[in-house]
Amino acid sequence: MKNDWLWWRDGIIYQIYPRSFADSNGDGIGDLPGITSRLDYLADLGVDAIWLSPIYPSPDADFGYDVSDYYAIDPRFGTLDDFDALIQAAHERGIHVILDMVFNHTSDQHPKFIQSRSSRENPYHDWYFWRDPLPGGAPPNNWASVFGGGGWEYDPHLKQYYFHMFVRQQPDLNWRSSAVRQAVLNVMRYWLEKGVDGFRLDVFNAYFKDEQLQNNPPKPGIRPFDMQKHIHDIDQPEMLPLLSEMRALLDGYPERYFIGETFLSGAEKAAFYTGPDRLHAAFNFDFLKNRWSARGFQQTIHRWETLLGPDRYPNYVLNNHDTPRSATRYTWSEDDQRLKLLAVMLLTLRGTPFMYYGEEIGMRDISLRRDQILDPVGKRYYPFHKGRDGCRAPMQWTDMPNAGFSSAAPWLPIHPDYTQRNVAAQTADDASLLNFYKKVIALRRKHPALHRGTYLPIAGTPFQSMAYLRQHGKDHVMVALNFSDRPADLHLGSAFWGHWKPLLSSIAGENQIEAGNLHLRPLEACLFQEVNK
Ligand code: GLC
Repeated sequence: MKNDWLWWRDGIIYQIYPRSFADSNGDGIGDLPGITSRLDYLADLGVDAIWLSPIYPSPDADFGYDVSDYYAIDPRFGTLDDFDALIQAAHERGIHVILDMVFNHTSDQHPKFIQSRSSRENPYHDWYFWRDPLPGGAPPNNWASVFGGGGWEYDPHLKQYYFHMFVRQQPDLNWRSSAVRQAVLNVMRYWLEKGVDGFRLDVFNAYFKDEQLQNNPPKPGIRPFDMQKHIHDIDQPEMLPLLSEMRALLDGYPERYFIGETFLSGAEKAAFYTGPDRLHAAFNFDFLKNRWSARGFQQTIHRWETLLGPDRYPNYVLNNHDTPRSATRYTWSEDDQRLKLLAVMLLTLRGTPFMYYGEEIGMRDISLRRDQILDPVGKRYYPFHKGRDGCRAPMQWTDMPNAGFSSAAPWLPIHPDYTQRNVAAQTADDASLLNFYKKVIALRRKHPALHRGTYLPIAGTPFQSMAYLRQHGKDHVMVALNFSDRPADLHLGSAFWGHWKPLLSSIAGENQIEAGNLHLRPLEACLFQEVNK
């Protein structure tokens, strides 16, 4: 490997939902020593970094996204020593560690919020978003909570409302307070000093709210939150100078990475927040919304490439902890053919691929009865929205009881397909999805074209297929994807009369380019390398 390898640009980032990855102490909840014990698996898979969803103490109103102490590890996940051991063991294997940072809000159990609500005179009172009622007692304006209902919670003791963009146990911080700003920068510095390689900023573009508290204008929608245009409670101009300040802090350390979750905003906003004195990257979630359509995916890629241009680096996401898994969105059986195609697309585009634990074995969402639902979104909106528990089920390691995840009953049920669909079984099966991911990841790592090269779409491919070239110096790789259940013939033209060597196909048996023509089998994804150049 060349030493100009830059982990977050050339490598792959793997998201772990710590509660569900590996439980080392038999309490049914995953933990840090569990993750450490699986680092060899991750190194073998070939990922360059892990991003851990929040690991700090939390009353779990929103499963870790309501933080009550930013300087500690939730005892259910382990201790700070366990964290140091995890970082060290990860670094020994060349795996970087990214932490999730939740700074739009804290838990209502955070000591600062408890102080803040104790009196209007308390020095921490203005750390949160308190406002007086309107005459007559109504909330200060029409802002809503994304998790249901109004966004303002009345405190009878203070006779004031506080704002919460998420559940009421997640009070929003007042980002106009310089003390809050300093406190947050100190938290970041603390973890950077511990050797953390990067941060994922949770809903960063909601930090600032309009100072005048203007009402959001209405728009058609079903839930109160969707019935407004969010022009006054997100994406306020004050965010840019703050990002520069945070970025400057990060840049004081070598090779750190900073990615933000652009809440409610599309690719355009994500591009806007990316840059040398902004974030290294902001998530583009458009893949999560794409239907099974080659054209749709192609348009998403094209738009993202165009918005970012050559100097800003894209990222791609097929799965995360907030969305039904790709296996559930795009398949209706235990067949993994479509998932192999998606693996090729995710891992061969120009951009940082984000994987989500279990994606590599094609984990499907669990389905829960109403009384089993834990996610606040599902509790509130069942049956219209069953919540996000489905994609957060325990990792399926083996066919043993509790899928090798834990020696005890896990916090969420395990998908019943674990007896067949698990890491051990797929490791042993050369044709499995897991081994396919490993092969594609290895090719991505080996070919500068794939991790570093330019992206050039090939025009004129048949409906439901796409093809593109990745090029870096003399390394040229062509990727072809057939989204259709029928064969597709790609007439690639004279540029492909040269020698193209098959590198990999998602279907058994090599494919060939003959006289500029490529016959793709149903749902085939394949890669070719140009030789003699
Ligand atoms: C982000 C997280 C989500 C969480 C929310 C509130 O959207 O991804 O899981 O519920 O922020 O922190």
